[in-house]
Amino acid sequence: MGFKVIILAAGKGTRFKSELPKVLHKILGKPMLWYVVKSAEEAGAEEIIVVIGHKKDLVEEFIERENLNVKTVVQEEQLGTGHAVLCAEERLKDYSGKVVILNGDTPLVKPEDIKNLTSIDSDMVVLTGETENPHGYGRVVRKGGEVLKIVEEKDATDEEKKIREINSGIYAFKAKLLFEALKSLKNDNAQDEYYLTDVLKIFKEKDLKVTAIKTEDFNSIMGVNNRYELSVAERILSERILKNHQLNGVTIHNPESCYIEPEVRIGKDTEIFGPVYIKGKTFIGERCTIGAFTEIVDSTIEDDAEVKTHCHVEKAHLKKGASAGPFSRLREGTVIETGAKTGSFVETKKAHLKKGAKANHLTYLGDCTIGENTNIGAGTITCNYDGYNKWRTEIGKNVFVGSNTLFIAPVNVGDNAITAAGSVITKDVPENTLAIARAKQVNLEGRAEKIRERNKRKKK
Ligand code: UD1
Ligand code: CA
Repeated sequence: MGFKVIILAAGKGTRFKSELPKVLHKILGKPMLWYVVKSAEEAGAEEIIVVIGHKKDLVEEFIERENLNVKTVVQEEQLGTGHAVLCAEERLKDYSGKVVILNGDTPLVKPEDIKNLTSIDSDMVVLTGETENPHGYGRVVRKGGEVLKIVEEKDATDEEKKIREINSGIYAFKAKLLFEALKSLKNDNAQDEYYLTDVLKIFKEKDLKVTAIKTEDFNSIMGVNNRYELSVAERILSERILKNHQLNGVTIHNPESCYIEPEVRIGKDTEIFGPVYIKGKTFIGERCTIGAFTEIVDSTIEDDAEVKTHCHVEKAHLKKGASAGPFSRLREGTVIETGAKTGSFVETKKAHLKKGAKANHLTYLGDCTIGENTNIGAGTITCNYDGYNKWRTEIGKNVFVGSNTLFIAPVNVGDNAITAAGSVITKDVPENTLAIARAKQVNLEGRAEKIRERNKRKKK
């Protein structure tokens, strides 16, 4: 059965003590709201309406940036969760199916839970859960087995505060009945708010069918109201993500220290050594190795490639069987082809290392092409920036670049050329040519001795 979703995201989130609206606080690189939207999508929502209010421009900006397929409605004043839902009525006025309410601050909600709620034949279904520490949540008051009402922490009697069954804030309603009931809400409570939770009592009074189902997994309904809870949610989500990779065939060592964001994809038989940070839209193929103390952002690592320890890789592309590190920094636009490698203290930016090219030590390669099987000696620098513009260095195949060569770009080096160590290359080097661009060595016999004596005399 189809259903639509309303996500409540207009609140300020006072307990976060932040300039940023609560639902934009991030878990593993994505705002909480993102997770709620994705879960609703995955559950099969026909339409998702997000109620925004506090700093709504920021929330809208985020929705646009992420290209989320949702509509927004504005709650000008935050008068409570019931009032927030009512703000979506106009959008749903011709809709008589089921509507699911989700909270923007319940990011761990699973698609299965949402689907489950909508499959139950009832006028209202509320998802509940049991916890040792119910503090802050609305309590589910039952008599016999039957649900009577939900009472907020601030309005609860001491007796009610002892109840450990709590309201998740996640419900499925028949839309028409919900909006009708919302109109008779009152705000005569400790917070002077229009509580969505009071709809339950109204439904009961009208003899409508109310069902409460308890989730098996309390974590999936945890509310995140402050930064401590944010970190707890992040740990839970992280564990879910890692487990998912592990069950898909990825070996993860030291998993407690692995930070892997939700959009990362990893192929089977890849081995990851924590601590690592793998972020954004990063795709890692099969049989790769990712070493410890490495951070990879928005990059593609193809099958059989290796990123050794202590690397920073951002917007780079390692092709099949390529290798980087230890201690490589690969920046945007770097492409390392099969059999090519960068070693320790090598920084690259918009550098294309073709098949079998090697830069093993202490090098900066920016805005350049390094041809097949070319070897870059230690200390090589492409001087790509003149203070105004960036220029390219094009190096051909099978070139031997001597240690400490500087390429003053723009400059081209032909296939099979050699540059002598310590050369400052300012002019193109034709193919098969040796370029030496350094002062000639002079040997002055006996002069070392004289200099020592002179310096000794000068010494005070
Ligand atoms: C709410 C429930 C509580 C439940 C808990 C679960 C009510 C009255 N209480 O409490 O029973 O146990 O969630 O996490 O519903 N919001 C708006 N507009 C408003 C007020 C809130 O959009 O005027 C949004 C918030 O941005 C948030 C969500 O609604 O995403 C829940 O609001 P919050 O203030 O966090 O409610 P809780 O006190 O946690
Ligand atoms: Ca909350």
